[in-house]
Amino acid sequence: MASENALEKAQYWASFLNCPVNPANKDDFFFHFFIEADRVYVRDQERRLLEIDFDKNHLDYERKGHRGKNELIAKALGVAKGCRKILDLSVGLAVDSVFLTQLGFQVTGVERSPVLYALLKEAFEKTQKEYLKSYELFYSDSLNFLKEKKGQIEIDSIYFDPMYPHKKKSALPKQEMVVFRDLVGHDDDAADVLKEALTWPVQRVVVKRPLHAEELLPGVRHAYEGKVVRYDTYVVG
Ligand SMILES: C[S@@+](CC[C@H](N)C(=O)[O-])C[C@H]1O[C@@H](n2cnc3c(N)ncnc32)[C@H](O)[C@@H]1O
Repeated sequence: MASENALEKAQYWASFLNCPVNPANKDDFFFHFFIEADRVYVRDQERRLLEIDFDKNHLDYERKGHRGKNELIAKALGVAKGCRKILDLSVGLAVDSVFLTQLGFQVTGVERSPVLYALLKEAFEKTQKEYLKSYELFYSDSLNFLKEKKGQIEIDSIYFDPMYPHKKKSALPKQEMVVFRDLVGHDDDAADVLKEALTWPVQRVVVKRPLHAEELLPGVRHAYEGKVVRYDTYVVG
């Protein structure tokens, strides 16, 4: 799609998102999806901007000085047991997915927010990073994806990072995070998704939680604790 002009691209995504191209009254829409020659981004009515660009480091996409296989997320996903193929059920801004790819995992990701999917799809097509070219992105609800694709794709471990309902609002959240949260809302069905994931023939299912949050479901085999987050590992097989 990179070679198509901006108008064609706008028509494509407008049809996907079921919204008009260049509406007469922009105030009728809470989110505005901008398509320019070399970038796509979303603005809300307060002009807060959300853009996904893996080649810029505005969302920490290129982590320097990481500890490779000793990173907590890699250990939780079973890197020492040979786990390499990961299914990410909650791509979001793809910060975790991109990091896992950078660590050498082969990642397949699922995202259900249509706007997020559009931003992600464009970002994966545009990136110059070779290691992201093999990333497989699906637009779907993970619960349906898990039901439909069971036994059809080869996966070693599943990763899930649903939105956690934060009661405390941080004083000055990054503008990207405000737009992101407003776009995706709460993931109230997270426990159902996890239940389904636990029926897959994989070595592990890993759920990311805030450090002191309750478990999404009982049965955590091991919790890998960092300074602010925790990776709860469920062992399936
Ligand atoms: C907390 S964010 C994930 C952030 C992500 N780990 C990152 O590093 O950017 C949760 C994301 O998962 C998506 N999500 C949650 N439940 C989902 C489901 N059942 N199916 C598909 N996407 C889901 C939400 O739309 C949201 O974009």
